[in-house]
This record gives sequence, C-alpha cells and structure tokens, in this order.
Amino acid sequence: MQERLQKIISQAGVASRRAAEKMIQEGRVKVNGKTVTELGVKVDPLLADIRVDGKKISARQRHVYFLLNKPKGYISTAKDERGRSTVLDLLSEVKERIYPVGRLDNNTEGLLILTNDGALMNGLLHPKYEVEKTYVARIAGEPDEVLLDRLRQGIRLEDGMTAPAKVRLLEQGGGQSRVEISIHEGRNRQVRRMFAAIGSDVKALKRVKFAGLTLEGVGRGKHRELTAKELSALYRLAGLKE
Ligand code: URA
Repeated sequence: MQERLQKIISQAGVASRRAAEKMIQEGRVKVNGKTVTELGVKVDPLLADIRVDGKKISARQRHVYFLLNKPKGYISTAKDERGRSTVLDLLSEVKERIYPVGRLDNNTEGLLILTNDGALMNGLLHPKYEVEKTYVARIAGEPDEVLLDRLRQGIRLEDGMTAPAKVRLLEQGGGQSRVEISIHEGRNRQVRRMFAAIGSDVKALKRVKFAGLTLEGVGRGKHRELTAKELSALYRLAGLKE
C-alpha cells in the first residue's frame, strides 16, 4: 500500500511527522537512490528503498491498538464465509491489518482489543499469564450461593474442570439474575457453558473488563486507541518488555 513518505518515516520511529517533512524538504531523503524534496510523494514502504541521511528505513509496520465495544450481531473473526458482519466492519477506517485478541460470540457484546501486534496478542492469550476477563451475565433462574460456589471452585465441563472463577451476584428477582463473573481461561463459549452446568441459561452476556481495561467512555459499536500507559500495562501482563 502506498503511503506518504513523511508518514512512513515518522512511523519507522525516525522522527515526528513534522520533522520528517523538514528532512524531506532539506533533501536528506532518498527513495530508490533519488533525492525527494516534495512532500506529496507516496511510496510503498514494503517495496521502496527509503534512506534518511543514507540510512535505510525499516519497512516494519507500525503497531496499532484499539479497544472496541462490540455490539451483538458481529462476529470476531476477520472474514466470514457466510457474509455476516464482522468486528472489522466497525473499524473500517483503520488501514492496518488488525486482528481481534481472542473472540467474543456473535451474540456477546463488550470489550474486545484489536491489534496487529502479534507478540502482544499471543502473550495476552497465553494461559500462562492468566489475563483476567470479567463478564456480566443475565441468566434465567435464581441460583443460590451454594450453586454459585460451584463456579467459584471450578466446575466440570465436557473439556475438563474450569479454573476457579470470581463470582458476584449483582441482582436477583422475577426468575432472573445478573451475575458478574471473572475468569482467566478462554475456552469456547466458556461462560455460557459454566452457567449451563449449574442449570442457568445465559440470556445476555457482556464483557465489561479485559486485562484491567474497561469500557468507560466507549459507547456500543464505538472504539478508541489505547493510550501509551494502557499499553505498557498490557505489555507487562503479557510478559513482554516494551
Ligand atoms: N464466554 C462465552 O460463553 N462467550 C463469550 O463470548 C465469551 C466468553
């Protein structure tokens, strides 16, 4: 993909966008051996040989990080063979090829991180780091604390015992309950299956927290970039150095 030269230089970490423009105007930048002094020039960073003061710019892709408040009815894979809406449809202005960090079911809403930083993605999903995810579930039935304790202790599912969960009853009445549950595993449909195992059908499910991040200030279907501070915290949680 072609991009403006000053953008490529700044994304390579050489200088700010403004400083990169100045470098171009000063004749310090060469593309495929030719000096470029105009600012409008676009090149493909993966194909062109770009040098600043004779030093080659690496074509490494800039990493981007987004927090999305996923609505129901969007699937979390990058492409769907059945033509359903995907979470990427909600970030259509993002040029980089990003991927969701883990998955939420089509009918689950809430917090989803998307990035093109494979190392961070792998770290956050690795069982070793036990990254915590918190959900609020609206369930059928009014389970008592004895039943909820079974979730707290770990419950047998067809793919084995779950790790102990943190469970908090938020509301109960009229044959329904709202329960907050925090887990660090990421098995397929895990929360729904855990509640099914105590006889409660999940009617609605929302992820409200992931790796310490919350949905605060991000409306349904909206997204924002992560801040540098949030990113450092994620790197630490994923066992990575910045
Ligand atoms: N657990 C589920 O059952 N569904 C999700 O989408 C996430 C966790």
